[in-house]
Amino acid sequence: MTEPSTPETQQPTGGVTHADIERAAAVLRTGGLVALPTETVYGLGADARNMDAVQRIFAAKGRPANHPLIVHIASAEALTAWCAEVPAAAWLLAAAFWPGPMTMILRRDARVLDVVTGGQDTVGLRVPAHPVALQLLHVFGDGIAAPSANRFGHVSPTTAAHVRAELGSDVDMILDGGACTIGIESTIVDLTAARPRILRPGGVSRAQIEAVLGLEPAANTSDRVDAPRVSGTLASHYAPHTPVRWLDSAQLNEVIVSLASHDRVGVLTLGDAVMKASVTGDGAVVHWRALPTDPGAYAQQLYAQLRDIDALKLDLILLEVPPDTPPWEAVRDRLRRAAGLG
Ligand code: TXA
Ligand code: MG
Repeated sequence: MTEPSTPETQQPTGGVTHADIERAAAVLRTGGLVALPTETVYGLGADARNMDAVQRIFAAKGRPANHPLIVHIASAEALTAWCAEVPAAAWLLAAAFWPGPMTMILRRDARVLDVVTGGQDTVGLRVPAHPVALQLLHVFGDGIAAPSANRFGHVSPTTAAHVRAELGSDVDMILDGGACTIGIESTIVDLTAARPRILRPGGVSRAQIEAVLGLEPAANTSDRVDAPRVSGTLASHYAPHTPVRWLDSAQLNEVIVSLASHDRVGVLTLGDAVMKASVTGDGAVVHWRALPTDPGAYAQQLYAQLRDIDALKLDLILLEVPPDTPPWEAVRDRLRRAAGLG
């Protein structure tokens, strides 16, 4: 491990002190689990070089052992410690988007644990942009394996309170860095073939990647025989417990006017949809939640809103889906999965 070179100018946010960071690093060094804020979602972190510690992540999440984890690193220089080969495209993307919401899949270095990669010959790597995560990485001095800090298949947490409610005593320490600013998981780009492939859309868009590489990323075909396993691509992923229905504005209006008196539904609208006025109010209980019409602001609030509405234990969540345009790609991907459509 290298000596930590904590940037003094970068102060932790959300009330996390340097002493908290030191304590979290100590927890990691003794094989413990630390929930840490990132700009995307909260992660459930362990020392990526410690097999027992990484296995504890799988136990806490109830996640199948063959689902690989992302290794979080302090900077792009650490790529050479984790990868057998770093293609030119990886350096370009790192320079453009790290720290930030982008994970790269690369050929792994021989020392990377099988428990991290799910036995694959590739590893997922990311430099997160949240100051608390970055400080922890610098002080800890090596990679932190961290999936989203939720139970397997459930909605990712975007606040420390979400982590506490979901994982509680299964995690040794929670660093509260406030609400995540991006709110949905990172873009995953597979760089192991000649043409980059986006395995999961996220905060960095397809167009941004294309602009940097001068090469259009391939579409993800999850049925590809040699496709790496990506647990986030299961149809049931990112799902609340309440059933979710995927509807366009017109369909939403029809469903609402035909609600029966005993129905208890939640509605996530895109902005203040005019349809809201047409509720017949036949005694049906309708909980409205208006989400922003800006894709970034929508993403930031989405998981918190889903958890909130899920907690009401309604019969159904009706979802007014955003337009099928590039800025909404990542959000629509998560909404499709929440609705079980994959
Ligand atoms: O924004 C994020 O990426 C968050 C924060 C905490 O960094 N992490 C996250 O981790 O979403 P997780 O484990 O919930 O999702 C990571 C996805 C999984 O679907 C996993 O299968 C995939 O990345 N993945 C990891 N390593 C991989 C590999 N070597 N090949 C293919 N997919 C991989
Ligand atoms: Mg996850």
